Amino acid sequence: MFNFGQNNFMSHLIAPSMLSADFANLQHDIEIINKSEADWFHLDVMDGVFVPNISFGLPVISAINRYATKPLDVHLMIVHPERYIADFKMAGTDILTVHYEAVTHLHRTIHAIKEEGMKAGVVLNPHTNVMLLKDIIRDVDMVLLMSVNPGFGGQQFIENTYSKIGELKNMIHASSSSALIEVDGGVTTENASKLVKAGADVLVAGSSIFKSDDILKTIHTLKTA
Ligand code: DX5
Ligand code: ZN
Repeated sequence: MFNFGQNNFMSHLIAPSMLSADFANLQHDIEIINKSEADWFHLDVMDGVFVPNISFGLPVISAINRYATKPLDVHLMIVHPERYIADFKMAGTDILTVHYEAVTHLHRTIHAIKEEGMKAGVVLNPHTNVMLLKDIIRDVDMVLLMSVNPGFGGQQFIENTYSKIGELKNMIHASSSSALIEVDGGVTTENASKLVKAGADVLVAGSSIFKSDDILKTIHTLKTA
């Protein structure tokens, strides 16, 4: 399929969040990420209901898909994500991630995502305990730990995330799951290496990449952290 990071010899993956890109010049910013050392495009879909902000939806993802040469990692911050699984597949999604807090029948939703031919992820808000995933951890391809409250870019990293990564890593090993751990929110060139040492497999970064003077260099620094 595509580079999903399940090779022990591979370094961690970098997923720039397009929420911090220039929406008036999206193609330009997509092409910078195409030629960078980044691995995936992280796309944040917000509905103004699950989170107090509205970002973009299916038509924008389809448009990004026309130019992106790397997998699309779509983070749904919406209620009833199960209603739109086939639509996100159609738009070009490779990895579809839904919030634990937004889904009643998580097992059914995760399997419906896989049946559409996508990798399936579950996201936890900062206050949600990783132990709640114990009975689903073998079914998911990825767990996304929010290290800020979802809804906005540019927020302060929540330090408690490090211990959550450790707990989740232990659960993944204990259950022989192959789930990747992705961290999202407040990731910078300063905390990247500590996150990777703690066990993060994928780092999402929005403002620290797009607000930097040299996007390619910042991505290189994150990738080699
Ligand atoms: C927040 C989003 C993040 C956001 C991260 O709800 O899920 O992906 O874009 O932005 P930074 O890296 O600026 O915290
Ligand atoms: Zn996100």
